[in-house]
Amino acid sequence: MKTTTRLGRRTLLKTAGATAALASAGTLVPAGFAIGQAAKVKIGLMLPYTGTFAQLGQAITDSFKLAVEQRGGKLGGREVEYAVVDDESEPAKAPENANKLVTRDKVDFLVGTVHSGVAMAMVKVARDTDTMLVIPNAGADAATGPLCAPNIFRTSFSNWQPAFPMGKVLADRGIKRAVTLSWKYAAGEESTNGFKEGFEKAGGKVVKDLWLPFPNVEFQPLLTEIASLKPEAVYVFFAGGGAVKFVKDYHAAGLRQSIPLVGAGFLTDGTLQAQGEAAQGLETTLHYGDRLDLPKNKEFREAYRKMTNREADVYAVQGYDAGQLIAAGLDAVKGDVKARKDLVKAMETTEIDSPRGRWTMSKAHNPVQDIYLRKVEGMENVVIGVAHKALADPARGCKMT
Ligand code: BEZ
Repeated sequence: MKTTTRLGRRTLLKTAGATAALASAGTLVPAGFAIGQAAKVKIGLMLPYTGTFAQLGQAITDSFKLAVEQRGGKLGGREVEYAVVDDESEPAKAPENANKLVTRDKVDFLVGTVHSGVAMAMVKVARDTDTMLVIPNAGADAATGPLCAPNIFRTSFSNWQPAFPMGKVLADRGIKRAVTLSWKYAAGEESTNGFKEGFEKAGGKVVKDLWLPFPNVEFQPLLTEIASLKPEAVYVFFAGGGAVKFVKDYHAAGLRQSIPLVGAGFLTDGTLQAQGEAAQGLETTLHYGDRLDLPKNKEFREAYRKMTNREADVYAVQGYDAGQLIAAGLDAVKGDVKARKDLVKAMETTEIDSPRGRWTMSKAHNPVQDIYLRKVEGMENVVIGVAHKALADPARGCKMT
């Protein structure tokens, strides 16, 4: 049976009057709220839950929810509701997936994703529909470069950021000839470019870039080519399941002794249980290290372990900080997502107390953060130095309107 509620004209006028009175008194009833019923804030999680980046998407999801749970299940005083989509790290499906979250589910914030190609589609949808977007991993340089916008934020890194310092680290060791190897898509290309920029500025020379398509893991022919090129070092960008296979294959090919292998820290983050012996001693650069001696890191790792029965990694840290960033914004406007200017201002100016160490937002909305040099010891990426202090992405082409 269909139920209709009829309100008399007098009731309607009374309700309208009460709403106006509350608004003019500056009472905290955010726009879009039904009287007597605080609407939930809607978060659209668009992340990979299948494929080579599945574990990364899960870590981000769990830690985002941890940040919300630590705030009593609320952001800006409002209960949280999630709409969740598996993006499969599939750029071709990304526009439809992101549009569904915005138009069908009417999310207040899009949160995603891991894969740079998918993130670029999310950036386009966020720009076209003026939806708030928080990127908790994908490093696509353009998101906080030429496509930067007031409604687009990142809590992770640009692909350039962890790669550039590794170039100097190697050159300072007297290494002159390096080869790179990566998946041929935005993240692999931009990570390679960042490394090359740092390495060649410091006096090294990249003699060859080797590629394979994402998410291909047929490494054997490329390992044979590396052996014949005999560089002094190899720099790679791989992550997730592909990183596990690559590190094992490099070790099995017997190259570890003759040609040092380095990379952006995704090579050994969240992967060590599966890589085991093959990863021992590998050095990488990243904005996080497992044993960082910070109270926030210890507290976070404990809470994450308790919640998931797993060890935290960089992806968990970035997801947690996405929750912390949105909380900072919504707290400032008491949950009123329509107070856009104040919301954005609060997200721009907050200092995030992160497990990676405190960080601030650059003008382009990307973290300004320390990049650590780490070495694998047992099941941990142990920080052995700071490769670059408070590094900001150059944000080439960003004109924030
Ligand atoms: C990316 O596609 O941007 C990415 C994926 C995994 C780890 C790091 C970056």
